[in-house]
Amino acid sequence: MFNPIKLGSKNFLSSLDISCEEFLHILEIAKSFKNKDLNIKLKEKVLGLIFDKSSTRTRVSFQVAMSRLGGTTVDLNPTTSQIGRGEPIRDTARVLSRYCDVLAIRTFKQTDLEEYAKWSSKPVINALTDLEHPCQALADFMTIKEEFLDFKDVVLTFIGDGNNVANSLILCGAFLGVEVRIACPKGYEPNSSLIDKAYEIYENKNLLKITNDPNAAVLGANVLYTDVWSSMGEENQKDEKEKVFKGFTIDSDLVSKADKDAIILHCLPAYRSKEITDEIFESHKSRIFDQAENRLHAQQALLSCILQ
Ligand code: CP
Ligand code: NVA
Repeated sequence: MFNPIKLGSKNFLSSLDISCEEFLHILEIAKSFKNKDLNIKLKEKVLGLIFDKSSTRTRVSFQVAMSRLGGTTVDLNPTTSQIGRGEPIRDTARVLSRYCDVLAIRTFKQTDLEEYAKWSSKPVINALTDLEHPCQALADFMTIKEEFLDFKDVVLTFIGDGNNVANSLILCGAFLGVEVRIACPKGYEPNSSLIDKAYEIYENKNLLKITNDPNAAVLGANVLYTDVWSSMGEENQKDEKEKVFKGFTIDSDLVSKADKDAIILHCLPAYRSKEITDEIFESHKSRIFDQAENRLHAQQALLSCILQ
């Protein structure tokens, strides 16, 4: 057992704000919390939650994580605070960071998150933007590590929309040396500048593959991962995307082409019979609810490092 170390970066806005060593350290701390080998009490620390989009897992896991650390959370609902009335981010950030010790923010634009971080005197955590979901990626790789000894032996195939979740998987996969294959319809590839950054990080450039062929992408894969086809804020694209994403459902046919011991992940919430069939979602291969549980342990570990 070992204690949390302070992270090099003040903020966690992107998966790239922490090093590979720090990422692995957070996973070790998270494992200790999960196994009840570590008990840390950070007296009187307050986490402010600013969520411009809905959330079940991220919000509640942050609240429970702070409670387990002996601190508290303030849940700022934009519609009942002055945020929804258009108070500038730079003012909100300067005020809230005088009350809170850390802020977790879920919003649309990554640039708005960066604006909060610029004006906040306290650390800011990305609780999901349109570009990245780095807290989710912590729990995802924690779940993968529970199944596979070495990240370097893992083939992770993400099937679906090249969205925030896919972007974070790519970035973490790059510094962890995981083979990451993304299969999405043409025009729905992950963010191109993040793909470029990932290629710069990968020692072996062949380990990242972006394809439009889900059948090729699943061959021999150890982890099959999917997420909703239309993310929050894209509700008006739902009908069009359901047509374009035909063939990108994780079903028994695709699963049969993966490694026989492959596991299934989904960040949730899920739309059964869209990105994943009910049969696969509920199958013995699914680790989806371990993954959801790990959000709590991973964020407790992240907070314990940030609040050192
Ligand atoms: N996976 C995830 O972030 O879920 P919530 O939207 O419920 O927080
Ligand atoms: N890509 C999804 C993830 C939800 C947790 C969204 O942004 O809505």
